[in-house]
Amino acid sequence: MAAASVGTIAAVASESIPASANPSTKGSKLAINGGKPVRTKPWPSWPIWDESAEESVLSILRSGIWCRLGGKTVSEFEKKYAELMGAKRCVCTVNGSNALLTALHVLDIGVGDEVIVSPYTFIATYNVVIGSCALPVFADTDPETFQINPDKIEERINENTKAILPVHILGLPANMDKINAIAKKHNLRVIEDACQAWMAEWRGKKCGTLGDLGCFSFQNSKHIPCGEGGAIIGDDDEIMDRCFSYHNCGRPYGSVKSTSGYPIIGTNRRMTEYQAAILLSQMKRLEKDTQIRNENAHYLTSKIKDIPGIIPHKLYEGVTRAAYHLYPFRYKKEQFNNISREKFLSALSAEGIPCSGGYGPQYRDGLIEVALNSKNFKRAFSNERLNRYRRELHYPDNDQLCQEAVWLSQNLLLTTKNDMDDIADAISKIYENRDKLT
Ligand SMILES: Cc1ncc(COP(=O)(O)O)c(C=O)c1O
Repeated sequence: MAAASVGTIAAVASESIPASANPSTKGSKLAINGGKPVRTKPWPSWPIWDESAEESVLSILRSGIWCRLGGKTVSEFEKKYAELMGAKRCVCTVNGSNALLTALHVLDIGVGDEVIVSPYTFIATYNVVIGSCALPVFADTDPETFQINPDKIEERINENTKAILPVHILGLPANMDKINAIAKKHNLRVIEDACQAWMAEWRGKKCGTLGDLGCFSFQNSKHIPCGEGGAIIGDDDEIMDRCFSYHNCGRPYGSVKSTSGYPIIGTNRRMTEYQAAILLSQMKRLEKDTQIRNENAHYLTSKIKDIPGIIPHKLYEGVTRAAYHLYPFRYKKEQFNNISREKFLSALSAEGIPCSGGYGPQYRDGLIEVALNSKNFKRAFSNERLNRYRRELHYPDNDQLCQEAVWLSQNLLLTTKNDMDDIADAISKIYENRDKLT
């Protein structure tokens, strides 16, 4: 086994504990103030790989067939990943962003169209909609689950809305019953951004198989990583043929036929054989890792849920499994002597628990204005529409969540209950000693 350092930092149980779980933390000096940290032991590094990956990458190198054209490895992974997900077909791409761009393209979502998305997501979700010259129309976030609030979607739909792009953010499933019902009622496409949700399930079906198409990322920090990589899964042969053809320069494929040359517009988004070799090897650990992350996440929830000011995330009733790319909870500073979330994050890190505050309100970062002012958007949308869009850019629940969220990265969950106790003890210690934080 080998491992590299983590690149990005990225409810349920019943057992109840008092606010101070560990009496040894009461009255002890906080690490941020020079005290002994709750934890000094390192956390697992990520990614982790074994010799079989090294051998298969080397054998591809030695074969001289590094591209999927002429190779077998990408096709083998596509077949196995589709099987694992319970989808009919899979097409691999260079990364998750290009999986999403391909999905939007083949479903004919582009210039002048509107796509409903969550504001609480990695920036790639915004970028792929904007990059398709469509308007990303945000529906506010459900702070309890960190997902798009399904009850805020319908009010955003108009005659130009073509799709809902739900993101199973942090690896926790969005409310797919409500989203699919709305999509059906308004005749909209559903493209799932499952780029953080490998193996997550909604009512026993894998995320990525619940809409028209599902997209995944295999970037370095992901649970099934290969540096950069992505995939689209789906059940409709004709749509999947178009995905394949489009990602392969528009060459004929399956039902995309031609008597001569290139029947459709295309691009090159092909995955390399190396990427697929690493993925085949990484896939072997995915089920077990998912189990461990879920067990530890649920245990951690049971340990922190009664600490005042700590609100664990909730999972919707339809969630049968989460992926836990991140473990999120909300921090209410009112219960912590009004100590800022940033100070809390510093104190928790000092106790040996790596953490971050997660996404900010990215729709105020500048990129939306750049898009709205672009030549393409001005041609595609009326001034009146763009001004109305500007006026609607208010997402109070998302703004609040961005100020209160605390994220723990997935690798912290690849441990044991004792390690979860360290996290709970560190939070309890900070709570008990909140008057010593300024
Ligand atoms: C929610 C989400 N969507 C899309 C992407 C884009 O994937 P990639 O980085 O592979 O392009 C990511 C990657 O982090 C993501 O987390």
